[in-house]
Amino acid sequence: MAKSPPPPKAPACAMVIFGAGGDLAKRLLVPALYNLSRAGLLADGFKVIGVDHGAGDDESFRLGLGDFLESLAASKDSEFGAARIDPKAWTWLADRLSYRVADFEDDATYQRLASALEAAEGAAPSVLFYLAVAPRFFGDIVERLAKAGLTRAPAGAFRRVEIEKPFGDDLASAKALNRRIGRCLDESQIYRIDHFLGKETVRNIMVTRFGNGVFEPLWNRMHIDSVQITAAETVGVELRGAYYDRAGALRDMVPNHLFQLLAMVAMEPPNSFAPDAVRAEKGRVIEAIRHQTPGQALADSARGQYRAGTVDGRKIVAYRDAPNVDPASRTETFVAVKLSIDNWRWAGVPFYLRTGKAMNAHDTHIAIQFKPAPHTLFQDVAEGPSEPNDLVLQIQPREGIGLHFEAKRPGPDVTLAKVAMDFCYADYFQSEPATGYETLIYDCLIGDQTLFKRADDIEFAWRAVMPFLDAWKGAGGPQAYAAGSDGPKAADALLARDGRHWRPLCR
Ligand code: BG6
Repeated sequence: MAKSPPPPKAPACAMVIFGAGGDLAKRLLVPALYNLSRAGLLADGFKVIGVDHGAGDDESFRLGLGDFLESLAASKDSEFGAARIDPKAWTWLADRLSYRVADFEDDATYQRLASALEAAEGAAPSVLFYLAVAPRFFGDIVERLAKAGLTRAPAGAFRRVEIEKPFGDDLASAKALNRRIGRCLDESQIYRIDHFLGKETVRNIMVTRFGNGVFEPLWNRMHIDSVQITAAETVGVELRGAYYDRAGALRDMVPNHLFQLLAMVAMEPPNSFAPDAVRAEKGRVIEAIRHQTPGQALADSARGQYRAGTVDGRKIVAYRDAPNVDPASRTETFVAVKLSIDNWRWAGVPFYLRTGKAMNAHDTHIAIQFKPAPHTLFQDVAEGPSEPNDLVLQIQPREGIGLHFEAKRPGPDVTLAKVAMDFCYADYFQSEPATGYETLIYDCLIGDQTLFKRADDIEFAWRAVMPFLDAWKGAGGPQAYAAGSDGPKAADALLARDGRHWRPLCR
């Protein structure tokens, strides 16, 4: 299939990366900028100013990133995907990279930055400030940028701030951060990232639903029995113990990534594809997630923590033995919750969400389970117990959509077999290697906020998960599960209670 024509180049600007020496910048931002450079989507006047505490200069910054990019290309496991580096595209980008050693908590840093940007004004009056830093710096950096006058755009230019997750660690802290940055920036300048929204298959959910006539008539409580959203990972906590042990699986994945998937699946059709029309509908459905009472929250959730085990032939140490994790930790590395959406479309349709680390498969999918046929004509000839039809939106690692239904086996008598209609992205489209951050940077440069979270969206999400966090405080710890399994028994019991079971993980 032919490639689609390239989008226009993003306008010239300077991208100031706070935390330029960190893992995110190296692993995802710079590779994404390289991919944008290769695709010809960055203007000649584009440049990157890396800002961080660590020692270095322009030359060491460029060389370090170039070497790292080469190592990503050589590795089969990186998100980068490209097998080799195109020297022309890299040189183009490398010529535009510079580095400043600076203290984020010192006003002088921002004055110097202002002078540097002023000196370059002719070439790049617009600036994107990217906060690839620990969350404790978010509010402070924005305030200091504003104090130095850096958030005010000259006529015809823009000043935008892109903020990574986690955005708060509960409702109160998320609200406080929204208030704090809201005093310095207009909402139109704030780009809160959820990297799941950069994934092609996540963006395709809207197209599947609203670009086709076949699905939407069935997309409601009359025809849908339940929805399952799964994000299973094979990796353990690895070296992120210090952050993860305070966060846990729910905070790390649910109000952000899984709720964005839920919003894509459950939102009403927006009036248009305009950023605010889409964001308003997403916000509305997240707002409609029922706030559980403490008792319900306990009954409707299951937590697990992995013990030692083997995943894909690799030995994984127990979570409690991972670096920087409390040996008596009660932090969950797996969580499953049952949610209800209180609106007309979804009344009575349970949404089951689960996510966990060190599981037996890497599998992110959404399974829409349909109600059975109203009358079971073929009960006696079906192959095994009748399974409901489902539509599976496969997000990663294999990207596609599958519809599962019953068909007649060839032969003189009528016997049924389960079959699948499978659409696999890779069979239809040639896609360039991408990290997912290309879109999230490009959209910010062109001023499209569709894929970014609004202040209210973030707060609705935290409000919906707070009952779980509060209820767990007084409850027992998470149930143990072996690394390499499909999670704790309590998660199966959560669905069994409703006469349902999880869709098996796809290996
Ligand atoms: C991050 C979480 O936001 O998303 C990680 O902090 C998680 O714990 C990751 O592993 C999952 O993202 P992806 O793109 O690898 O599925």
